[in-house]
Amino acid sequence: MKKILFVTSEAHPLLKTGGLADVSGSLPKALAELSQDVRLIIPKYHALKTFNDVRFLCSLRVDNRQVDLLETQMPDSEVKVLLLDYPDFYGRPGNPYVDADGDSWPDNAERFALFCRIAVEVGMDRAGLDWQPDIIHCNDWQSGLVPALLSLEENPPPSVFTIHNMAYQGLFPAESIRGINLPGQLWHPDGVEFHQMLSFIKGGLVYADHITTVSPTYALEIQTPAFGYGLEGLLQHRKDDLTGIINGIDIDLWNPQDDPLIPQPYQAKTLAKKQSNKSELQQHFALPVDADVPLFGLIGRLVDQKGIDLIIDCLPEMMTMPLQFVLLGAGEKDYERRLQNIADLFADKMAVTVGYNEPLAHLIEAGADVFLMPSRFEPCGLNQMYSQRYGTLPIVRKTGGLADTVVDALPHTIADNTATGFVFNDASASSLLEAIKRTLMAYSDKKAWAKIQANAMKADFSWQYSAEQYLKLYRSL
Ligand code: ADP
Ligand code: GLC
Repeated sequence: MKKILFVTSEAHPLLKTGGLADVSGSLPKALAELSQDVRLIIPKYHALKTFNDVRFLCSLRVDNRQVDLLETQMPDSEVKVLLLDYPDFYGRPGNPYVDADGDSWPDNAERFALFCRIAVEVGMDRAGLDWQPDIIHCNDWQSGLVPALLSLEENPPPSVFTIHNMAYQGLFPAESIRGINLPGQLWHPDGVEFHQMLSFIKGGLVYADHITTVSPTYALEIQTPAFGYGLEGLLQHRKDDLTGIINGIDIDLWNPQDDPLIPQPYQAKTLAKKQSNKSELQQHFALPVDADVPLFGLIGRLVDQKGIDLIIDCLPEMMTMPLQFVLLGAGEKDYERRLQNIADLFADKMAVTVGYNEPLAHLIEAGADVFLMPSRFEPCGLNQMYSQRYGTLPIVRKTGGLADTVVDALPHTIADNTATGFVFNDASASSLLEAIKRTLMAYSDKKAWAKIQANAMKADFSWQYSAEQYLKLYRSL
C-alpha cells in the first residue's frame, strides 16, 4: 500500500471550476479503491463545500503566518481531505483564482506559495499528523513550488507533477520572490526563473521526479513550440521522465442509467428513452420541441482553448442547416456577448445560458444528439467522454485527449463497430463545418447513427486502467 499526498487546488464536489476538479475528485477515489492510502490537500476557500464532519487537526506557523489544518472526508470514499485554513488568503467569496471581473487575485503568488509550503510540511511529516507519504502527487501550477521546495529537503519523498494545462503557468513578476520568501537556490534559469519572471509551473517541470500529463497525444504536443509556450525545450530534456496517462471519468457520477440530475434514465438497450430528455432540454431552452431535428450541445469555459471562435465563424451557416444548438458556458465577455447576440437573432434554433450550472450540464449531455468540442488544444477533455457515455456523439478536433478518445466515423470504422464520433483536423471554420455536415448525413441514417451510439456507450472510460498506470508509476519511483 502506498501513502499518497494528492496536492490540488480544486476537487469535485468540494469546489470546481473545470476538469482539474473532476480528476481530483475521481482519481484519488479510484486509488483508494485500489487499497491505497490517499490524502488530498486543498485550500479551504469560502465557496468550498464539505459533506462530512470537519475536525481541527493542528495549527502550523510557516513564513510568519499561523494556519490551521482541518480534516474531512470525500463523500462516498475513504479519501481524507486536509483543508488549509487561512481566511486572509482563501476566505474571500467567489472564484479561487480570479475576482468578479475575471482578473487574477493580486496576491495569488503568496496564496499558492503558502499552499505549497504547507503541502511540503505535511509531505515531510512535520505537521504533527504522524503520517509520512511515500509519494507527493502535485497538480498544475498552483502546486508547482512543492517539488522545488522538496528538492531543498533531506530525503524527501518522490514527487509527481501532473500537467493539466500548459496554458496556465503561474507566472509572476520577479519582485514576488521577496513576498513569498523564495529560497535563493531556486532562483535561476534552470530553476523557477522564466525570462525574469517567477514560474510556478517550472517548479514542477524542473524538480518533480516524474512528470505526467493527461493524455499521450498531449505529452507529445507539449514538446513542440505550438503547445509548449517556451517550455518545450525543458519538456524535451525531461522526456524520459514524462508520461501521458489519459484521464478516466467518474462512471457513477456520469451514468445515464442512474443520474439523479436527468428526468429520464436510460441505457444502450433503452436508448429510445433518451428522447424524453431531449424534449425536456428543448423546453428548458424554449426551442421548438421536435424529436427529429438534430440537437447540438456545448458545455465549457468560453476561452480560446475551446475553439469558440471557430464556432462563432460557423454559426451563420449552421443557422441555415436543419439543426438546433444549445450552449452552456462562461468565460470571455466578448464570446459571451457574441454568442448571446446570435442566439437572440435565431431564437428558434439556438439558445445560450451564460453561467455555471451542473444540473443543466447533465441535462445537455442526456438530451443532446451531438456534442461540439472543436478545441484548438485539449490536454485531455472530459465532456467528449461524458458525451459518449450518454450516447451523445461528439464532434472534436484531432488534438490532445480528443484525438485519443474519439474514433472518427468513417466507412470502415462504422463497419467494424469502432466509430464513436466525428473528428476533424484543421483549426478552421471550414474544417469544422465539413465535420458538421458529415454528422448531419450520418444522423439522417438512423441505423448507422444508432450503431455509432452503441459503440460510444460501450467505450470504457472508467478510472480502473489509468489509476493502475499511476500506481505503477508511484511504485517505480
Ligand atoms: P477544462 O478543464 O479545460 O475546462 P474539461 O473538459 O476537462 O475542460 O472539463 C470541464 C468540466 O467542467 C466538465 O466537467 C464540464 O462539464 C464542466 N463545465 C465547464 N463549464 C461548465 C458550465 N458552464 N456549467 C457546468 N459545468 C461546466
Ligand atoms: C485541464 C484541461 C482539460 C483536462 C482537465 C483535467 O483543465 O484543459 O483538457 O481534461 O484539465 O485534466
